[in-house]
Amino acid sequence: MNRSIKLVTIVGARPQFIKAAAVNRAIAAHNEKFSDSTLEEKIVHTGQHYDESMSKVFFDELEIPQPDYNLGVGSCSHGEQTGKMLQKIEQILIREKPGCVLLYGDTNSTLAGALAAAKLHIPIAHVEAGLRSFNRRMPEEINRVMADHVSDLLFCPTEAAVKNLANEGISDGVYQVGDVMYDSILFYAKKAKTIEQEILKQLDVQSKSYYLATVHRAENTDNINRLRNIFNGFNNISAPECPTLIPVHPRTKKKLSELGLVCSNGVRIIEPVSYLEMIALEQNARAILTDSGGIQKEAYWFKVPCVTLREETEWVETVQSGWNVIVGADEQSIINAVSGADKLHGICQRTIYGNGDASNRICEIIQK
Ligand code: UD1
Ligand code: UDP
Repeated sequence: MNRSIKLVTIVGARPQFIKAAAVNRAIAAHNEKFSDSTLEEKIVHTGQHYDESMSKVFFDELEIPQPDYNLGVGSCSHGEQTGKMLQKIEQILIREKPGCVLLYGDTNSTLAGALAAAKLHIPIAHVEAGLRSFNRRMPEEINRVMADHVSDLLFCPTEAAVKNLANEGISDGVYQVGDVMYDSILFYAKKAKTIEQEILKQLDVQSKSYYLATVHRAENTDNINRLRNIFNGFNNISAPECPTLIPVHPRTKKKLSELGLVCSNGVRIIEPVSYLEMIALEQNARAILTDSGGIQKEAYWFKVPCVTLREETEWVETVQSGWNVIVGADEQSIINAVSGADKLHGICQRTIYGNGDASNRICEIIQK
């Protein structure tokens, strides 16, 4: 007899497509191996990210099946966006009656999925549970705390995440499985090598002769002083012979044009790139400057010095190891960190983030 479990996966933002792709691949492998106890996945895309370069590119390149539902929610205030998602997800969950709802990370799509499922008493599995910045002004911190507290299965990427949950009294259903983004890197790094020369040529840069930067956190984009300081830092470190490439998030692009910030000729703002292009660019960068969560870890896995444009990080291991330095949005600290970046070497103990089998373990645990 086939003991099939129906899963509803809820995604909406760029990093969630990347994480869900790893688990989707593991689900296919699981079903092939265990034909009598399969996992049937239905994918819901909330539409939080919708530009082709923020959404479709990832479905195509990572071969994620087309979503079964696209809610088309789009951009609006936190309350409106989460509310619209909640209403639509609830209808889908009532119709689909899944055995489990699968959530990723800490976006508004995560929160809406968590609330909808919890109120319908549907078990929730949260991938990337237990991460904390201890900064409740971050919308992500609210989203992840709320999601963790209504989840039944909490899949933690690190030991620190397990401890954070224990400190909040959560221990049942907690599994330290490793990081699905590490699974993804192991799977795609070789593939990225095949397009590496093409993307470097296309952008007219040489390996280890450019910086790679991303900025999209609300705390940076919505604070003129912080955004200005960060870009002043970029202007200072960049030169035509060692430019800073910035695949720009649409949120930041809008703010930059509103503020009319002027960039020096070494600062090169480009459109967001695909995942394979991004990891090829990361591996060849002299240093990475970012406020992204995922990119801090990718820098660590590729042993590229990272300068984090935030006041704290959830990925404390990258800092403890010596590969990542937290500088906030201070122009001089950015300049100092980059000039010392060549010395930012440490121990890269990749297994801190698991063995590259987090997605398989998630499937096995859900099935059990
Ligand atoms: C969201 C997540 C953040 C995650 C990031 C990944 C929340 C609260 N934040 O932030 O945790 O790190 O995704 O990239 O869920 N926009 C477009 N086109 C798009 C998407 C967004 O133009 O396809 C613009 C809109 O002006 C929108 C703004 O970007 O208002 C912000 O988008 P939103 O999804 O609300 O938050 P992110 O900053 O992307
Ligand atoms: N990324 C990408 N193209 C880009 C910028 C980022 O493919 O132009 C990938 C990056 O390699 C990482 C993920 O998107 O895997 C990180 O997403 P983001 O920075 O948007 O969100 P966060 O991780 O901060 O939540």
